[in-house]
Amino acid sequence: MDQLEAPLYAALRRHVGQEYAHLHVPAHRQGKALPPLLKQPDFFRLDLTELPGLDNLHSPGGPIARAQELAARLYGADATFFLVNGTTAGLQALLLATCRPGQKIVLSRDCHRSVLAGLIFSGADPVFVCPAPLPGFGITAGVAPGRLAAVLEEEPNARAVLVVYPNYYGIAAGLPALVRLTHERKMPFLVDEAHGAHLPFHSGLPAEALACGADAAVMSIHKTGGSLTQSSLLHLRGRRVQAERVAAALTMLQTSSPSYLLMVSLDLARCQLAGRGRELIGRSVELAQRVRAELSRVAGLQVLGIEHLGEHLQDSQQLDPTRITVNVRGLGLSGYQAADLLCKKYKVNCELADYYNVVAVIGLGTTAEDCRRLVRGLLEISRFEAEPAGSLPAIPGPPPLPPKRMTPREAWFGSVRSLPLESSAHFICAEWVAAYPPGMPVIYPGEEITPEVIEYLQFLKRNEIPVVGPADKSLTRINVAE
Ligand SMILES: Cc1ncc(COP(=O)(O)O)c(C=O)c1O
Repeated sequence: MDQLEAPLYAALRRHVGQEYAHLHVPAHRQGKALPPLLKQPDFFRLDLTELPGLDNLHSPGGPIARAQELAARLYGADATFFLVNGTTAGLQALLLATCRPGQKIVLSRDCHRSVLAGLIFSGADPVFVCPAPLPGFGITAGVAPGRLAAVLEEEPNARAVLVVYPNYYGIAAGLPALVRLTHERKMPFLVDEAHGAHLPFHSGLPAEALACGADAAVMSIHKTGGSLTQSSLLHLRGRRVQAERVAAALTMLQTSSPSYLLMVSLDLARCQLAGRGRELIGRSVELAQRVRAELSRVAGLQVLGIEHLGEHLQDSQQLDPTRITVNVRGLGLSGYQAADLLCKKYKVNCELADYYNVVAVIGLGTTAEDCRRLVRGLLEISRFEAEPAGSLPAIPGPPPLPPKRMTPREAWFGSVRSLPLESSAHFICAEWVAAYPPGMPVIYPGEEITPEVIEYLQFLKRNEIPVVGPADKSLTRINVAE
């Protein structure tokens, strides 16, 4: 092999040379919306370590402690922790801080895969509550209070509730009712707010989780707040979650060499949001409203709006307008095909594609030209690439929740063997299988593989819908517990 090759560097250079339109995270858009102090030519001089005066992330008492306090103040938290391994590490720390092995935790089924790792680390026993489906879009729309109430009735001894808010599509299911139900049971309410770092900075956006009464919220500042990728914040409010326990868990989970470049990007992004957040996010909301209006006039497209949400969500505060979910089913194309055309033919990159939809993110650095190219691309696809209506098979609703036979930790540490998918009915699954994106699990480790699960997975396989989790991504075989 030629050691002078640098394949990743070459790929990144090729990518940036293509001048794609950017409708995806990170919000800074190749540096454009980074705080100016991060863009100084001597930035790399700041790639330092725990030298005198520079504090220590794992026992902060100087500038890192002060920077965390300022972040807490901005977001209305009592304590805030810098994260250098993304929201992933924050969610895992919350699980370790709230649950012991065998204790129950109520989770919305659309929880991110980092939560599965948190369950394996902590030994906690998940009880799932399914978010409401939005069948026309093939996605889910947050947990309805009635569903959470029913689960809490059955699990009065659960240790905590954790939900995703807003979800990948910007749907922010009414949190106050869920928080109330949880607090009535004296449990902490934890929120994966990975997609919500920008929410406090515009009155037209859904209320942020802490303002809705959540006890903990973890947010990816890198996604929508303008810091460098991998940098996130974990916020606590009140005493239902012990800050000392969270700090101890983070010390185990995060590197002992945290990057000062990531940490300073959090500090400066917080500063930028405090000073110019309203102006910058206001601009994103305006751009997004214009894109929504233009796309709504394109034949064959349906743009997810408040009017499509279920009754429990119909409130103008409960959809983030800067997430633009465009349903392309009316063009006879899948979201994957539309995203592929957008990328290859029109040089437009979106945040994600799923079976029916393409999702565009309008962030701090998105330009009016990015938006024009998105609209033009979709318009041309609707004119020149559409297939006969109905040529895309409808995706079935997800199968009923399979019965749980083991905890994810027991399934992870047990012996495993591989079986052909079609012969796996009633075995206990030893891995996680989710249609991706956005990664809503069809089956979890420790759950029984039901005939409905097999049928659903076979639909995914036939229609080449990508999956994450299983060792065999072709879904020919599946790992089961011995
Ligand atoms: C809903 C959700 N939660 C958590 C995460 C993990 O966030 P991070 O990439 O900051 O670790 C993601 C990442 O995409 C996500 O979509």
